Amino acid sequence: MTKRALITGITGQDGSYLAELLLDKGYEVFGLVRRAATPSTERIEHLLDRLTLLVGEMTDQTSLIDAMETSQADEVFNLAAQSFVGDSWTVPISTGDVDGLGVTRLLEAIRRVKPSARFYQAATSEMFGKVHEVPQSETTPFHPRSPYGVGKVYGYYATVNYRESYGLHASNGILFNHESPRRGLEFVTRKISDHVARIKQGKATELRLGNLDAKRDWGFAGDYVEGMWRMLQQDAADDYVLATGETHTVREFCEIAFSHVGLDWEKYVVVDERFVRPAEVELLLGDPGKAKERLGWQPQVTFAELVEMMVDADMQRVSKAIAFENATS
Ligand code: NAP
Ligand code: GDD
Repeated sequence: MTKRALITGITGQDGSYLAELLLDKGYEVFGLVRRAATPSTERIEHLLDRLTLLVGEMTDQTSLIDAMETSQADEVFNLAAQSFVGDSWTVPISTGDVDGLGVTRLLEAIRRVKPSARFYQAATSEMFGKVHEVPQSETTPFHPRSPYGVGKVYGYYATVNYRESYGLHASNGILFNHESPRRGLEFVTRKISDHVARIKQGKATELRLGNLDAKRDWGFAGDYVEGMWRMLQQDAADDYVLATGETHTVREFCEIAFSHVGLDWEKYVVVDERFVRPAEVELLLGDPGKAKERLGWQPQVTFAELVEMMVDADMQRVSKAIAFENATS
């Protein structure tokens, strides 16, 4: 029997990699997409003829019930979220509605339509926030530092609660930062790789950033979607940290990215207070021991490989855009 999966947030970075992985494994894949004046399907353009897209919204209970009824999914991956921490102070209420209550809405849809479906919740290391211990594991207490983190803690406990109340196969993946050439341009890693490529090719002169001392445990998104899938293949649902077990500063990311194209980062990076957050998560470092032992999961791409992969992809993209500009001017 072909397995059926429903992915919310299929148009995002992780949704696109997960859709590829599930299609390769022979799943029939359904994706929830928001109605928009301009479609946001760029990351899944190459998959569109193999996917079934369903219009829906994490704030609209009816659409989630419909998505479950139509897809009859065996596995549901909830990746939809307002995922940019920086903006969560600007839109705190809708962030809580989508990232927190949205999880309950989807769990309710599963419980009512197909309670045998397995559920993955995209929880996050942002829940650790002002960290109570280093490294952070599944047993580290939460102390979120943004409306985004607060909303995600709600979603985490909603998932645990539906597992305990109704016996749903519902798991939280507590994922540390994971990046790729498909990362949104607002996140620091992609902002850096994009600027490096534009500076190198004469299309920008500087890169304005906030806190250069922030430390993150950065991995490659392609590795992390494999971990999500493995969680739902276990007999019993549980919660798992996915991380590399290494931490690096934003400054180190800049150093490697600029030096990869032969530039000195200190000549181009300008600290700009506008990018400093009202409350910062200073240090994230995950302990992926449980995922390694129980899921056999470990990341494949190193920090330096990740930085270089992102810079190379942006170098190519910018150079194609310049060639197009020249050909059409
Ligand atoms: P992303 O690229 O920002 O994608 C977010 C997705 O959610 C997009 O498809 C977006 O649709 C969709 N979405 C947003 N609001 C929605 C709503 N109200 N209803 C339906 N869909 C909505 O994020 P990502 O990096 O792939 O991350 C995937 C998930 O993992 C998110 O839940 C994020 O919070 C979580 N997470 C990410 C990381 C990381 O480092 N990447 C780490 C831990 C946890 P549009 O295209 O229409 O905007
Ligand atoms: N975005 C951004 N832009 N961040 C900056 C900048 C800047 O100009 N300058 C410094 N930073 C710092 C932020 O203050 C933060 O400490 C760090 O770089 C990483 O910021 P982001 O790349 O925006 O990611 P994040 O860590 O806040 O959140 C991401 O990872 C979480 C998992 O820990 C997102 O993907 C979340 O959705 C995810 O849950």
